[in-house]
Amino acid sequence: MFLAPDESGLRDAAKLLRDGEIVAVPTETVYGLAANALDAAAVRKIFEAKGRPFIDPLIVHVCDMAMAERLAEPSPQLERLALRFWPGPLTVVLRKRAVVPDLVTAGEPTVALRMPAHPVMRRLIALAGVPLAAPSANPFGYVSPTTAAHVRDSLGARAPHILDGGPCAHGLESTIVNLADPAGVRLLRPGPVSPAELEAALGVPVLPAPSHMDQKAAQAAPGMLDRHYSPNTPLILRTAGTMAQVPPGYPGRVAVVHQARPADPRPKGVEHFWFSESGAPEEVARSLFALLRHLDSQNFAAIFAEAAPEGGLGDAINDRLKRAAAKR
Ligand code: TXA
Ligand code: MG
Repeated sequence: MFLAPDESGLRDAAKLLRDGEIVAVPTETVYGLAANALDAAAVRKIFEAKGRPFIDPLIVHVCDMAMAERLAEPSPQLERLALRFWPGPLTVVLRKRAVVPDLVTAGEPTVALRMPAHPVMRRLIALAGVPLAAPSANPFGYVSPTTAAHVRDSLGARAPHILDGGPCAHGLESTIVNLADPAGVRLLRPGPVSPAELEAALGVPVLPAPSHMDQKAAQAAPGMLDRHYSPNTPLILRTAGTMAQVPPGYPGRVAVVHQARPADPRPKGVEHFWFSESGAPEEVARSLFALLRHLDSQNFAAIFAEAAPEGGLGDAINDRLKRAAAKR
């Protein structure tokens, strides 16, 4: 079931994709569940494997600008962002061309494009010779996978082929920015590339992601649904710097997760964890989903997690933690 990231494994994966099969693939953000983006029957298998509603559009991954230009209408703003951030953890939403199946874009007139930086993924797209539609390789609504084992553990037989490219460097999904209206560039999902970096590259303001999306807006960008990235164990989010306090007498075994290794003495009666030794946001992002998955397998009554300090990557970390904590 695991394919090695060598030339023979890559050729096998590329053939599977050209034959209309789905393959779980490594990227520098999270693992994706990929299919040939131009083959609607293949793309349908992604939705089935994830239990993903058809109203939730997919990101299409390309290996060069020529491939991007075949999928979307020309955009000077894309050219600026691509020069600065591609290949890398940035997805842009553009007006689509007719070649992109409606299933990929949930019937929207736009398509989300990303040129990933992971060398295994880039080589795979080049070998397959087609753009790859790939959402994160988790059951819909669950925590995203950052290792090949995460994909196997949560999708099992629904992901029969997994290309193992090692743990993901960023550990958080790409930033998504909507360029479909050049006069109103809007952040759709915070991620490793910050709005300030986008504004610096574009020279125009980037409108913030709507904090609460109504049902209609949520359908246009369902990755923004309030509940998403959620462990099965209830997660309670605590303000940064508050030692993730647990109410006295809280029933059952409780996990308390800190951003950094907490100073002694630590509150007793709960089990302590930390996303990173130092609390550096890059390290927290890298281990966030892996630790949530691990804790979710340990039968805790609840997980109390400390939020990251605001700003930059901290905003993307808190976005995922808030969604993980949203009421089901
Ligand atoms: O880092 C990533 O972006 C990972 C890796 C695999 O590339 N992919 C990922 O895909 O996070 P996914 O499906 O979990 O999130 C895709 C989200 C959708 O839920 C939606 O919010 C947004 O991208 N999206 C896709 N197409 C769109 C479109 N045409 N308009 C607006 N939003 C779109
Ligand atoms: Mg996802």
